[in-house]
Parts: sequence; C-alpha cells; structure tokens
Amino acid sequence: MALTARPLHPLFAAEISGVDFSRGVDPETFEEIRVAVHRYGVCVFRGTGLTDESHIAFSRLFGELEQAPRFSIARRRFRYPELFDAGNLDPDGNILSDERRRMYNKGNQLWHTDSSFNQHRSAYSLLLAHEVPPVGGDTHFADMRVAYEALPEDRKAQIEDLVAEHWLWHSRMLAGYPEPTEEEKREKPPARHRLVQLHRESGRRTLYLASHASHIVGWPVEEGRRLIRELIEFATQPQFCLAVQWHGPGDLIIWDNRCTMHRATPFEDVRYRRDMRRTTVYEAVDH
Ligand SMILES: [Fe+2]
Repeated sequence: MALTARPLHPLFAAEISGVDFSRGVDPETFEEIRVAVHRYGVCVFRGTGLTDESHIAFSRLFGELEQAPRFSIARRRFRYPELFDAGNLDPDGNILSDERRRMYNKGNQLWHTDSSFNQHRSAYSLLLAHEVPPVGGDTHFADMRVAYEALPEDRKAQIEDLVAEHWLWHSRMLAGYPEPTEEEKREKPPARHRLVQLHRESGRRTLYLASHASHIVGWPVEEGRRLIRELIEFATQPQFCLAVQWHGPGDLIIWDNRCTMHRATPFEDVRYRRDMRRTTVYEAVDH
C-alpha cells in the first residue's frame, strides 16, 4: 500500500493518509510509516478507528512499550498498563477535580520530550484521541534537527559535548506542582543525556532538549538553566513550530521523541472532557 504524505510545515511534519488501520497494518505499510516518522518527525493520521487494543498492537510494531508510572494516581483509568493518561478524566470518567493531578498535567504545557527523564529513552510516542474538547487543546511541535541546523556555528561548538540532567520533578515544579514526595523522588530519579545527538535514521544531528532538563552537568546550575532556556526558546521560535488541531476521536499523532519537542496547550479543563491515551516506545537498545 502506498501512503500519501502531505507536509504540514515547510521544515517537518506530515499528515499521512492511505492506511487502513481496521485491517491491521501489514509489514510493507508499517515500514512506510516508520520511514515517514523518521523523515518528518511528526506524522498525523485522521480518524484511524483504533481501539485500546489495536492502538497497543500497532504501537508494538515500533518496539518495546513503556509502562505508565503508578505514582500520584490512586487508580488507573485503563485496563492496560501500556496506556499513559493524557486526558483530564478521573477513573470514573468524570472531569478531574483533584488539584494535584491538574497541576501535574499542567507540566505537559511546557515544551518537552516524553520520558527524557528516564535513562532508557523513549523513541516514539503514539497519542490517540478518544474525546477532544470543542475548542483549545491543540498540540504544538518543533523539530530539533531543524533547530540544531539553524544554530550559529559558535553555539554548535559550545554545546557539542555537553550533558544535561533531566528530572521529571523539575518540569513539574516549573509548572507549579509541589515539592515531590520521597516516594515520587524514588520512583523517578534523574537521568543524563547528551545535548547534541545524532538521529541515526535520518543521519541528521539534533538537540535533545526538554523542560525536564534541569541543568548542565559540570556547570553552575543557574548558568546551565539559562543555556537550556535559551536553546528551548531558540528551537521553538514561531517559524520552527507547528500547531496540530485534534479533529475528533481516532485521530493519532506519532512523533519521534529523539528529534522533536512538543507541548500541550490550554483548554477549559474544568468544563470540557479530553480523553487522550498514549503509548510510548523505548529506543532500541542497540542505539
Ligand atoms: Fe508529552
């Protein structure tokens, strides 16, 4: 089956059509999708008709799936531990009123890369809409290969060998979440990653950035934070960014976390329901 890719931005991202998810994705089609994800960084599929089960099964074609962490959440909403909750509903399907959870979700409105706070990185995220608010709640994307290539040469040389420390609780506290509990800290210790990486599948160099990045290893904390802030601001200038609107249930966006950043945007979260479920695929270990 030949896919059609319609670019959504001059520099990255495409809307893909021509995939029949209802019949399971055959190996040739999957290979075309994989190639498109590596090329465009962000691929949007409309009205896939995927269910929890077929979402997980399709995601497994990309590799091993992460399991959603259990902290801070008394009961899971989903039967499957592979599904991360990116919505605003409680386990009974009502709009969340728990301030701590709402605050936790706010962290997703900062530019980030999923799971960069884990030492074993995530390669891909597959976010599937089950219910979308009528207004707001777009997802923004930026391609970090484009950003790296646009950096001045002296900046590239300055950051070449730097390593950043990423900590989930750093981004949550930036968003107003309270100091993490001892259990939360134990559950998610910091991780370290090189700031400049090779995105092997496209052969392009890329920045590996996220609001989870708390400082640069070996640098005074404030100086490192300033650099991280400057790089994120540079990488997310309007001409490098794309806003994707969710049209309705079944919309799926796949992105490559190793070469993109994204953020959620606000919507009236105490008024409208948003049910979004994400699978997250580990980077293959031979990388
Ligand atoms: Fe995210």
